[in-house]
Amino acid sequence: MSAIRGAVIWMTGLSGAGKSTLADALHQRLKQAGHASIVLDGDVLRRGLTAGLGFTPEDRAENLRRVAHVAALVMQQGFIAIAAVISPEHQHRRMAREIVGGGFVEVFVKAPLTVCEARDVKGLYARARRGEIPHFTGISGPFDVPLDPDVMIETDRVSIDEAVDRLLVHLRAMGCLPRERGLGKPRLAK
Ligand code: ADX
Repeated sequence: MSAIRGAVIWMTGLSGAGKSTLADALHQRLKQAGHASIVLDGDVLRRGLTAGLGFTPEDRAENLRRVAHVAALVMQQGFIAIAAVISPEHQHRRMAREIVGGGFVEVFVKAPLTVCEARDVKGLYARARRGEIPHFTGISGPFDVPLDPDVMIETDRVSIDEAVDRLLVHLRAMGCLPRERGLGKPRLAK
């Protein structure tokens, strides 16, 4: 497993926009090509590293500060960290970028609220609409639309494969991946 130069792919977007799915797909494609990466998923980290933190603005800032520091360490070791965290406010993304420094890639994983709500994979939107979840992003809490993301992926318009392709092109342009090393789509098993 190797990476020429580390990076932090910081995926921001609404709950249900497709951050985790895209993060896992990118991780798998990198793995197939022999590159180590680590997925830092908000839902998973909140069961351990950031357990005990909630969703008030202060708690989110602390959650994201920790995630950014872990991502920065991973990057400094020469690997690719893929963070999948809502990071709803401009100030959260700005803080993460400052902590990480060069190598930070802000990816806006975009899907309209109506689409995320219709997907409602975890049933949280329905609960938030019933007023059961305070600070729920997009319903009872804010989401600042990223103004100048490095990459924008509209998950209701492009396939996962295409989205991963675009991220790989970006990583390659940053010098994080060698020119040609089997980063194509997975071959079907015979
Ligand atoms: S962040 O805002 O601090 O970046 P994070 O990505 O770690 O959020 O966690 C988001 C996940 O927590 C969502 O995918 C959802 O499953 C769950 N969740 C629980 N409560 C909330 C809430 N109030 N707002 C958003 N997500 C919530």
